[in-house]
Amino acid sequence: MKLFTRQRGSFTLMSGVLLLTLILAGCGSANTGTTTGSGTPAATTAASTNGKGCTKVGVLLPETATSARWDGKDKPYLTTDIQAISGVTVDYYNAQGVSATQQNQADQALTKGDCILVVAPNDSAAAAAIVTKAKASGVPVIAYDRIIQSKDLNYYVSFDNQKVGQLQGQYILDHYKDYVKGAGKNNISLINGSQTDQNAILFNKGVEETLKPLIDNKTLNKVYDQFTPNWDNPTAQTEMEGVLTKNANNVQIAYVANDGMASTVIAALKAQHLNGKVLVTGQDATDAGIHNILTGDQSMTVYKAILKEAQATADIVKALHDGTTPTTTGTSLTSDGGSIPSVLEAPVAVDKTNIVATVVKDNYIDKATVCAGLAAGTGGVC
Ligand code: BGC
Repeated sequence: MKLFTRQRGSFTLMSGVLLLTLILAGCGSANTGTTTGSGTPAATTAASTNGKGCTKVGVLLPETATSARWDGKDKPYLTTDIQAISGVTVDYYNAQGVSATQQNQADQALTKGDCILVVAPNDSAAAAAIVTKAKASGVPVIAYDRIIQSKDLNYYVSFDNQKVGQLQGQYILDHYKDYVKGAGKNNISLINGSQTDQNAILFNKGVEETLKPLIDNKTLNKVYDQFTPNWDNPTAQTEMEGVLTKNANNVQIAYVANDGMASTVIAALKAQHLNGKVLVTGQDATDAGIHNILTGDQSMTVYKAILKEAQATADIVKALHDGTTPTTTGTSLTSDGGSIPSVLEAPVAVDKTNIVATVVKDNYIDKATVCAGLAAGTGGVC
């Protein structure tokens, strides 16, 4: 499999054993909220598609079980923001983790006359077929959160996904000393997301490159590093149980790609009375993830302001509907050589020290859910 991606100045070719990163001169570090690019809105890649005057938008999300975000945030925000455009309605579909279902749903949407598609692919490569069909119907496609590997893709809206992995890795760099107790007590396990999701590959790339010096000099000893098909949360628990058994419970750091899988990993740790004693990472700042941070069972998560991601998507829909050129802030490359005008928002690391300043301030979490069973005053949140 070849994966060819550029995000915010890093230009990466991954082909089996080959992994090449060129940081383009002058693009700066990946720490700010803006993406690469000259600031000049890029043109769409497929001139035949437009969406002008379109009032029926198909929104296709990939699944609900892998993260609370899809139903809890993306669906309501996208629907509300797109329907705020005068006269525009949304047809919503969820593929429940099956690519073939998503393809059928895209066919249905096109048959119904949806004239702009917003697609978070279940499988970044398989969904190229959706773009091909949409293009044949003159329908522009905006890839949402996960890129679609097609040069005919019109737009991409997401976060800087490699940066997400870097933030997770940086947290481990900054805190491993609280858990690692020297040689023989320095084991790290990595439970990654689904390999068919290009984001999961970028998260893994970000964390691996950040931890490489510590692994190379044997400060950390990697005992496990696997992708988890379909981001399946119960599978992550089985993985962690296996890691604990194989290492006689001698694990100090559990890198876990998102909060959904972190919850089940914590269940595996609890069964061995190890919860709170192992550094556990996550992503999505879900209510369950923030709860687990407040109890001390999870160490950090990554907050991605989905409100901004959905709004940026709705802004592109509106521009297409109005017949103007959408404003984008950079480009992302696809595996077939496409250069896709993109908007990539900035992710933020969250631990117990900044829950209030981030997800509470933004009203992102449901306090009643987060604080269920916790004493009043916990973490300054409850
Ligand atoms: C998203 C994450 C999510 C994961 C599993 C990724 O593509 O970026 O936010 O946790 O999929 O649903």
